[in-house]
Amino acid sequence: MTKIKSSEITPEHIYLSRRKFMVGVGALAASMAALAACSPQQSSAPPAATSTPAKPAAGQTPPTAAAQAAAPAAVSQPAEPTTIVAPTTDELGDPFNTFEAITNYNNYYEFTTTKEEVAMLAKDFTTNPWQVQVGGLVNNPKTFDIDDLRKFEQEERIYRLRCVEAWSMVIPWQGFPLAKLLKEVDPKPEAKFVRFETVYRPEEMPGQRSPWYNWPYIEGLRLDEAMNDLAILATGLYGKELLPQSGAPVRLVVPWKYGFKSIKSIVKIDLVETAPMSLWMAAAPNEYGFYANVNPEVDHPRWSQATERRIGEFGRRKTLPFNGYAEQVAYLYDGMDLRANF
Ligand code: MTE
Repeated sequence: MTKIKSSEITPEHIYLSRRKFMVGVGALAASMAALAACSPQQSSAPPAATSTPAKPAAGQTPPTAAAQAAAPAAVSQPAEPTTIVAPTTDELGDPFNTFEAITNYNNYYEFTTTKEEVAMLAKDFTTNPWQVQVGGLVNNPKTFDIDDLRKFEQEERIYRLRCVEAWSMVIPWQGFPLAKLLKEVDPKPEAKFVRFETVYRPEEMPGQRSPWYNWPYIEGLRLDEAMNDLAILATGLYGKELLPQSGAPVRLVVPWKYGFKSIKSIVKIDLVETAPMSLWMAAAPNEYGFYANVNPEVDHPRWSQATERRIGEFGRRKTLPFNGYAEQVAYLYDGMDLRANF
């Protein structure tokens, strides 16, 4: 297996301890604010609702219990710096995959179809300068430099990534809701779908010289799917800017859909009237549909989707409908036949 230099990797313990510190500081500031609003008589009462740290991102375990436990018991006590343990698992209790696994086992056909070789082949890929052109059926078309995208408030989102090939990982992403970007360009009423396009640069991406696929990589979402808060544009993972193999500098992450919908290295986003034809739909229409919602009941024509292999684990685990995000997204498909619309 090809490895990237250890100096390029943020050791997990440094990332995790930094998050622990950051959450601790946040909770301390919040409990100080609550205390300022409390009269001395109330000092031994439980902290007010305002002392709860900022609402966690969807898919993230709220650190509420720990934060409340750490709130000072009385105003007279000097505020001690607190240490709150930030989550290191998803909301189902499953641990993050390691940075090394996430960045050395990749699907990125523009470079190669061999997952373990993507990191090595992509390491010199030019990700700066970078622009994302957002247009089509919008009132306010706009081109964003990558630094403009980093100005959107970056949130941490801990998501399961379930590949259509039946393996999965838990990844702590940094990014921002796609909805925020779409609101800035103001979609016209006729806009019903969003079309995403990866950079086309065959001189740097040897896989794009292969005639097997219809380059560039294209993906699409229905506009209401794209506006769902779970859909993000990711710019980092494990607290570090994305590496090329992960789709630097900006990629989509749609956690309730098979991983192939989470298109990497985006340069163009267009609001359109009809469902875009994705690279995978064009390549094998009977195997890859437009929706691609994770569904243990609808098998891929060549393998079962009922179970999956979590990278780093032995054995298999059950695949969850919508990859475990049904509560947040099932409403989008009310009344639809999910077998026909696979
Ligand atoms: N985006 C582009 N441009 N090219 C690709 O080959 N592969 C997809 C998706 N996005 C792919 C892509 C597939 S099949 C999966 S499972 C995920 O990226 C994998 O993301 P990861 O390598 O970060 O785990």
